[in-house]
Amino acid sequence: MNSNTVLNIVGISGSLRNKSSNTNLLRALSELAPENMNISIFDGIGDLPHFNPELDDEPPASVTCFREQMKEADGLIISTPEYAHGVPGVLKNALDWLVPSGELYEKPLVVLSASPLETGGEKAHDSILLTLRMMTARITPGGSLCIPFINKKINAEYEVTDELLREKLKAMLIQLGQTAESK
Ligand SMILES: Cc1cc2nc3c(=O)[nH]c(=O)nc-3n(C[C@H](O)[C@H](O)[C@H](O)COP(=O)(O)O)c2cc1C
Repeated sequence: MNSNTVLNIVGISGSLRNKSSNTNLLRALSELAPENMNISIFDGIGDLPHFNPELDDEPPASVTCFREQMKEADGLIISTPEYAHGVPGVLKNALDWLVPSGELYEKPLVVLSASPLETGGEKAHDSILLTLRMMTARITPGGSLCIPFINKKINAEYEVTDELLREKLKAMLIQLGQTAESK
């Protein structure tokens, strides 16, 4: 890949809430990203139907759009809450739609889980990593981070206020960019 190319990085939040801390975290990443990286957020996973392999003969438009955006992305950032010690159903459903079509095959990817609790959503984090590895996504070195007490680390202007977290996220984005460029 040409070093002057702007990388198309797409964020997916596992939360549909308007005030989601995970979505806000994705919004905050643009400020922390290297110059050659554009981060957009795909906000359509709530529009996907429940996964049913029989629908795949003629996939609904929402599925086709989702798959196209995943295919075009140079890299992905998934940020998810934990619901009842698992991955939110809406996010697992979205990933299931990508299994037969294979857009995540070797896709450079980082995974965040953010929670107001001390655990940082670690159970959902472990679970989604299992799924993504099965899908052969390329999780970048150091590209996996559980973030506890997220409510104290991000402000209303979508800025990460915790200095240590800022540095970790910056390093993660640089690594994601390098992995995407090496493809
Ligand atoms: C139904 C439900 C189940 C939850 N289960 C967990 C859980 O198992 N672990 C956890 O850390 N937080 C849990 N939470 C709290 C979420 O982490 C919290 O609501 C968080 O803000 C959701 O992420 P969001 O801000 O991106 O929407 C749960 C919340 C809801 C509504």
